[in-house]
Amino acid sequence: MTGTDTHNLEQLAADARGRIAACADLPALEALKVELFGKKGVITALLKTLGGLAPDERRAAGARINAVRDELAAVLAERQATLEQAALDAQLAAGRIDVTQPGRGQQPGGLHPVSRARRRIEALFRNAGFSVEDGPEVEDDWHNFEALNIPADHPARAMHDTFYFPDGRLLRTHTSPVQVRAMLREKPPLRMIMPGRVYRCDSDVTHTPMFHQIEGLVVDEGVSLAHLRSVLHHFVERFFERKLGIRFRPSYFPFTEPSAEVDIECVFCSGQGCRVCKNTGWLEIAGCGMVHPNVLRNVNIDTERYTGYAFGMGIERLAMLRYGVNDIRLYFENDLRFLRQFG
Ligand code: DAH
Repeated sequence: MTGTDTHNLEQLAADARGRIAACADLPALEALKVELFGKKGVITALLKTLGGLAPDERRAAGARINAVRDELAAVLAERQATLEQAALDAQLAAGRIDVTQPGRGQQPGGLHPVSRARRRIEALFRNAGFSVEDGPEVEDDWHNFEALNIPADHPARAMHDTFYFPDGRLLRTHTSPVQVRAMLREKPPLRMIMPGRVYRCDSDVTHTPMFHQIEGLVVDEGVSLAHLRSVLHHFVERFFERKLGIRFRPSYFPFTEPSAEVDIECVFCSGQGCRVCKNTGWLEIAGCGMVHPNVLRNVNIDTERYTGYAFGMGIERLAMLRYGVNDIRLYFENDLRFLRQFG
């Protein structure tokens, strides 16, 4: 190898180093690699010229060409690593997800205010040793009326505005038929509440065709009206989370004797008299009484040995008083502006 050849080799190496450094991306670098080391590449061509040299020159020239080839291969590999890392970084940056960002348009759901009130009532009665029972919404005449001491010609039927099916079955008008089913199924002592949907053909600010009631039933030896009053008083004070006066007003239900309507001190004016309590200072929240002996007999419970009390209240009504809602229909219009206030 002549001096000029050596100079050319140096020149070629310097050139190649410059071009490798200047490669901006991996495809360009790959093309350059082929140009240098490929079958028709510059280095390959140089190595091929060795054959034409004298043996003593060949060794020295071969060593120099190999040294340049190895050096350029190393520089190229380094550049390749750098470009690969840069490509990976760019890819990661483009696809990055910031997990700390709040989601877009996430609207967490919440329990419906009627469900919240129902759960609250259930929890309070469970704590007092009551079980929670269920019954069918499609009932027959016997369970909904007959067994509850409401015969076919009874005027109380007119108050129920019943939805009937063509076959004579009906949508239950109250949760009281669940009492009947429970007493037929289980022997006393019984201590339970029965929440659920009830239906009446009725609609205004305080009535909707479907609403919810909670029925209560206790049957045992020695059960009295005093027990009933005490249980309801404890319940309302816990439900409204405050001391509240309570009174029993004599009333009439076919399935209880004696019967009473339960009033609580008005939760809005504390008994002073306001628009909500119509200046009476009292709000009606439930019907109740001692289970009528006829009802006990209808379900084969020994009336000499057992007595029972029962009560029924509207869940929407309790929820309206607790949350200050003045139109029952708001519960069923599904207006999110209304419902979100209970989140
Ligand atoms: N079932 C009655 C109604 O829907 C409510 C009721 C009153 C239930 C007195 C009772 C009760 O258990 O003792 O109007």
